[in-house]
Amino acid sequence: MSNNKIKIALVFGTRPEAIKMCPLVKKLKENNNFEVLTIVTAQHRQMLDSVLELFEVTPDYDLNLMKPNQNLWDLSCEILTETRKVFEKEKPDLVLVHGDTTTAGISALSAFYSRIKIGHVEAGLRTFDKDYPFPEEINRVIVDSVSDLMFCPTDRACENIEKSGIKKGIYKTGNTVIDALLYVVENKKANLDFINLNSDLKTILLTSHRRENFGKPLENICYAIKELIEKHKDIQVVYPLHLNPNVRNTVKPILENVERVKLIEPLDYVPFCNLMKKSHIILTDSGGVQEEAPALGVPVLVLRDETERPEALEYGGVCLVGTNKEKIVNKVSELLLNEEKYEKMSKAVNPYGDGKACQYIEKIILDYFDLK
Ligand code: UD1
Ligand code: UDP
Repeated sequence: MSNNKIKIALVFGTRPEAIKMCPLVKKLKENNNFEVLTIVTAQHRQMLDSVLELFEVTPDYDLNLMKPNQNLWDLSCEILTETRKVFEKEKPDLVLVHGDTTTAGISALSAFYSRIKIGHVEAGLRTFDKDYPFPEEINRVIVDSVSDLMFCPTDRACENIEKSGIKKGIYKTGNTVIDALLYVVENKKANLDFINLNSDLKTILLTSHRRENFGKPLENICYAIKELIEKHKDIQVVYPLHLNPNVRNTVKPILENVERVKLIEPLDYVPFCNLMKKSHIILTDSGGVQEEAPALGVPVLVLRDETERPEALEYGGVCLVGTNKEKIVNKVSELLLNEEKYEKMSKAVNPYGDGKACQYIEKIILDYFDLK
């Protein structure tokens, strides 16, 4: 503790972590009991910077670690070494990490080695299959194992941690992604004219970037899109391509120059939220999009065989389709042609919180340090 303030370091590095942590940075900064440090690994560079700009967050430390087509080993070593230096210099009372990326897993381990208290935002998500998603499932387990405070989005996430034998420090807060989404929907506007959408067509939004979908599964997804475009003349597909070369090198040869398919660069968060809202159906393997789309009332078909976010499946707004071409074509066609089924999915309820997760997390931290 310095100047009688609790020093809290928030560490994050990728687009989704930034979207879900920036609202918390802002919330904690408003509280005079806290000295807040923002440390970005920059595991992502451009996709991180656009979020920092949107939320007007300036990092105190930018480790600037991203390399083109980076690998897990080198990135992990660098995060461990570089966060150690900052932790030793700054001696935070609490380190907060988010979710399940390499940044989260390795920064938490680094803080643990430095004997610093750790809080995990978006704790308790599990598929209970170490290979799916890879390597995220194991990052989740690592972070929860070393954490003192676990901020879980749902009851299910709390139960997952309790089942592992951990008894203390587990709290349900909702997901900070809803805080971010409401902030954007209420305060920001974006113009989508540059995408040149045809307003007479139904828009299908596609995102896919997961490691376990690289290669054949992603090819299947692309061929499914080609078939859907041929089959349904009233649709257009928009695919903001992730900057990972493993995604771009597979997708471009199959979908570039296909009629009514728009391959575009990653969108900034505000236009992306706008596009989600306008979309008729979303196809994705993203974690964050599975949480946001039900809050916007847009049906989501998940391009994976399992999900660590089963709540929206149970509420009906999300359906798992995997990466089999026929299965994707059949499910999308069903939603396009069967109004009753479509209506049911789009009336889904958002299970991920009330937009006040940051406020709840702030209160839990105050209580943890015996502050009012
Ligand atoms: C990472 C996370 C994944 C998360 C995803 C969110 C791990 C192991 N993976 O995957 O959990 O769902 O982020 O998008 O932590 N690149 C750029 N500019 C950017 C971002 C990425 O050029 O702004 C390119 C670089 O070549 C980089 C590559 O994409 O090396 C891969 O980035 P990396 O963070 O390793 O993997 P992601 O697939 O983005
Ligand atoms: N997103 C964005 N622009 C895009 C695609 C996604 O801003 O072009 C946002 C999306 O709304 C969500 C987050 O990025 O909040 C999800 O990131 P991603 O799918 O890369 O990672 P995941 O959530 O799967 O870890």
